Amino acid sequence: MIHGGTTLRGEVEISGAKNAAVAIIPAALMVDGVCVIENMPQISDTEMLLTILRELGARIRFLNRSTVEIDCRNVCMQDAPYDLMRKIRASYYLIGAMLGRFGHAKTTMPGGCNFGVRPIDQHIKGMNALGADVDVKAGFVYADARDGKLHGARIYLDKVSVGATMNIILAATLAQGRTIIENAAREPHIVDLANFLNSMGADIRGAGTDTVKVNGVEKLHGGSYAIIPDQIEAGTYMVAAAATGGEVLIKNVIPRHLECISAKLRETGTIVLENGDTVLVKGASSLRKINVKTLPYPGFPTDMQPPMCALLCVAGGTSVITEGVYDNRFKYVNELRKMGAEIQVDGRVAVVEGGHRLSGAPVMACDLRAGAAMVIAGMCASGTTVVEDVRFIERGYENFVGKLNALGADIHIVDEREESDGRDKILTMIG
Ligand code: UD1
Repeated sequence: MIHGGTTLRGEVEISGAKNAAVAIIPAALMVDGVCVIENMPQISDTEMLLTILRELGARIRFLNRSTVEIDCRNVCMQDAPYDLMRKIRASYYLIGAMLGRFGHAKTTMPGGCNFGVRPIDQHIKGMNALGADVDVKAGFVYADARDGKLHGARIYLDKVSVGATMNIILAATLAQGRTIIENAAREPHIVDLANFLNSMGADIRGAGTDTVKVNGVEKLHGGSYAIIPDQIEAGTYMVAAAATGGEVLIKNVIPRHLECISAKLRETGTIVLENGDTVLVKGASSLRKINVKTLPYPGFPTDMQPPMCALLCVAGGTSVITEGVYDNRFKYVNELRKMGAEIQVDGRVAVVEGGHRLSGAPVMACDLRAGAAMVIAGMCASGTTVVEDVRFIERGYENFVGKLNALGADIHIVDEREESDGRDKILTMIG
């Protein structure tokens, strides 16, 4: 429950990157030794992946709040907790990691946020090229290395895909010979996965460019690694500071990863100052309209599209948002309309008539980033907003409510209780 009309001020510390962590945890499956991973974000997606590894036989121990020790030496190929796998998108990384370690894999088709059709054909194309047969049957993915081991290959991705790039890197790490991935995605978390694997003995070059070369190695050894800060979490606080007209110092970031977000915020009139591993965001007294198009990195991230849309609802003038990555990522717009936002959607384009004062309403967090957008809109609105299904937000933001309240927001988790089937949490208003 959000009491709106607050202005964010102060400092916020950014956690480790979700999309790096969710690949690095499966990568630990391939390590013949103990991995100590620092800056692990405390979010439900990483908790679920750690649980999956534990159920496969890994020894997992938190050394402090954000440092986890993972020992997968005794993991054996057995039936995994498929109910958990089904809930997260990143479970697809277990295909590459298990193929690398065991020569075969069985996972569920990935879950995650629903932005329309999200195929994994490019992952499968990559695994096929490396010498694995892949079958999708009754919601499961079965992958088998044809001669028990993968072999390096040249793979051209028909679509720039973060998941396929990282999954092929995982599978190729312990393959025989050299793999070349062309038209690879270039996101910071791809570089982070490659750096993690290289620090454990892999030989991966070119991550962060559109051609990644993986020279297969015999085995990986244990070691320590710190995950990079989360680009999207940082961007969300930047947008929240700007939308509420506040002033927030965002700490523990890599400003280069935020340039695409900083550039668009500056166009709205927001001041963004980079200094070392911080950015200072000072909101303008009145925000200006902008046009945004989401693209693979270094373009404006699709995951920042819903938070930016919430900001543009309170900016002056008409803004145009073009979604360049997914077919259907504007479903949440209906929720913003309940708060008085005027937004027209036609396919992949949303036209936002800004300048309206939003008013609090009961809304849904349709997915992870849409949930964050609802919270930002709620802070800008007059009155009270109740966001339901906050479990989506917990998938990817560590202590979201605590961090925002420390900046001056007025947000309460009202009542969280288990539904009778014991799985889904629901948020109900009381009093
Ligand atoms: C990852 C991120 C997600 C982010 C997205 C784009 C994780 C766990 N999730 O998702 O937060 O929004 O990158 O930055 O890291 N596609 C295909 N075939 C494939 C794979 C993808 O057609 O085999 C399409 C997708 O439907 C989408 C586009 O390619 O239209 C990009 O998807 P991709 O980069 O693969 O996103 P994810 O890895 O699923």
